Amino acid sequence: MKIRFALVAIVCFSALNMYGQISDNCVAKTLLTAFSEKAYSSIPVTDQQLDLILKCGIKAPSGHNQQPWKFTVIKDETVMKEIINNAISGNVLIIISGIESESGGTPDFDCGLAAENMFIAAHGLGLAACIYGSPAGNINLKKESFQIPTDYKAVVVLRVGNVDESVDAVTAATPRKNPEEVINYYK
Ligand SMILES: Cc1cc2nc3c(=O)[nH]c(=O)nc-3n(C[C@H](O)[C@H](O)[C@H](O)COP(=O)(O)O)c2cc1C
Repeated sequence: MKIRFALVAIVCFSALNMYGQISDNCVAKTLLTAFSEKAYSSIPVTDQQLDLILKCGIKAPSGHNQQPWKFTVIKDETVMKEIINNAISGNVLIIISGIESESGGTPDFDCGLAAENMFIAAHGLGLAACIYGSPAGNINLKKESFQIPTDYKAVVVLRVGNVDESVDAVTAATPRKNPEEVINYYK
């Protein structure tokens, strides 16, 4: 009797645990609710938040663990506006630059992974964030002025800030393709 009770308890606990993994997984929740905010409040990102976000960027995987990136942090409003014209005080921009190497490697892809790690870390902290590819060209025309090492080139910019509470996250979310359009199961 005791053994049967123990078995039932183990099965129930496993089922609950599996259900919990699916419904309460905080990483999945962050991934599924995060979106690229375009509006921000002027509440500043704290140094503690920024440090954690950068730590998550550094932790990103990279081909052959080359870690071919540099992260340039900009908090100055005037300089931020040169990069993203509607950036506001309280935002932080992180320029993610990849090494310009002729010996192969996957610096752009690796920089993308670092950017996504930091994007998710920011949202995990309850902050707003957006990855921008369009400013990279202009940044690379005057890399020195942004203090990017000469042998690196800007790949993307991550904007982080506090959420503008007036924005409705549901309507601001961008739709995705249907699973049938993007997944095929090999039979
Ligand atoms: C590599 C990359 C480059 C992007 N560049 C820009 C950009 O230059 N300007 C912009 O407004 N959004 C940019 N985005 C944000 C995308 O437009 C956004 O992620 C996409 O539309 C999906 O929207 P969501 O993240 O809100 O779901 C970029 C995103 C990625 C991943």
